[in-house]
Amino acid sequence: MKIGIIGSGAMGTGIAQVAATAGNEAVIYDTNPAALEKAKSQLHATLNKLAEKGKISLTDAGHIFGRIFFGSSIHSFADCNIIVEAIVEDLAVKQKVFQDIEAVVSPHCILATNTSSLSIASIAASCQKPGRVIGIHFFNPVPLMSLVEIIPAIQTEKQVTEKAIEWVAFLKKDGVLAKDTPGFIVNRVARPYYGEAIRIMEEGIADCATIDHAMKEIGGFKMGPFALMDFIGADVNYRVTESVWQQFFYEPKFKPSFSQKRLFEAGYFGRKSGKGFYDYAEGAVQPQASPDTTLANEIFNRIIIMLINEAADAVMFQIGTAQAIDVAMTKGVNYPKGLLRWADEMGIASVVKAMDDLYDLYREDRYRCSALLRKMARENKTFY
Ligand code: NAI
Repeated sequence: MKIGIIGSGAMGTGIAQVAATAGNEAVIYDTNPAALEKAKSQLHATLNKLAEKGKISLTDAGHIFGRIFFGSSIHSFADCNIIVEAIVEDLAVKQKVFQDIEAVVSPHCILATNTSSLSIASIAASCQKPGRVIGIHFFNPVPLMSLVEIIPAIQTEKQVTEKAIEWVAFLKKDGVLAKDTPGFIVNRVARPYYGEAIRIMEEGIADCATIDHAMKEIGGFKMGPFALMDFIGADVNYRVTESVWQQFFYEPKFKPSFSQKRLFEAGYFGRKSGKGFYDYAEGAVQPQASPDTTLANEIFNRIIIMLINEAADAVMFQIGTAQAIDVAMTKGVNYPKGLLRWADEMGIASVVKAMDDLYDLYREDRYRCSALLRKMARENKTFY
């Protein structure tokens, strides 16, 4: 099978590596020749490094690199079976590229987009054959993250979805089906990890260091929310938050925070700019986490309950199955445990009570308990 990849940035390069490693031929093309040249030397260096480390043999590294071709125009995609688009996140630009590609490829070629935030239906709508368009959403860095969200649009033909599932399995990735709604699974369900952490800080209940410490030590998360937001960058994380909120017709539970907006406006993008929620300047004094274990437990409980509530809502609205959502959060953002498995362990009734306690206190829509959890508690049901 031959895979065409348009856009040789971080994602396109990773997708080419994974496809060629699995045994596909991959053609990669970028309108910017410098970006294509960079992808070529990067792929070469990465494969050699893997061979040096003994992860693959030098012969395999050569074979994998030999299966990657660097196209000179979109005409290089003429005999591809699947095209994956990984260009700039701009609907009009993507629509135009899909139209151009459709004029080049065979009628059976699948057209996939790696978009994180645009609707697949709106990209499909620009094509002559919208039924062949689907979302295949990889995570960064592609060779290391095993999750792939597969997102059929309402126009997508059933066999196109089936073929996409097959291909993702061939890549030895964990594919999950997600509904074409803002943020798909991961970028929706993860919102409270950031949003509730910021809310706790804004209310003065605890500082960044204490909240990060609670999520790591009690929750077992690899990175606390603030360290993670600084790693992702306020530019990216704030934009995603705002976009999900707007696309959900200004749903209050996704409302962005002023703290993050101000960091974004100030250019305090986190690690990459030297300052974010934390100060990364050399010698900067880092805040110390409070040793109060009761407080740490309260923080962890509040954030995990909000995450579980969002995951349950995503099940209720059939964004994904409970299994798909648990795979998505463990494989896409390295959560230590699936949120719905966590819900079962904590007890659905106690999750409902904790949400109702928050709602009673704040009387904000943000804290409404998912109807699915309430129903399950009444019926004494569990997710697994
Ligand atoms: P990037 O900015 O690293 O690379 C994009 C590349 O596309 C650039 O090399 C650019 O020259 C090229 N390009 C732009 N317009 C083009 C066109 N009309 N034809 C051909 N090439 C064109 O971007 P990145 O980070 O690789 O993201 C690509 C896509 O993947 C976006 O839709 C993004 O939302 C999505 N995505 C990004 C993730 C990330 O963590 N970076 C994660 C998952 C999805």
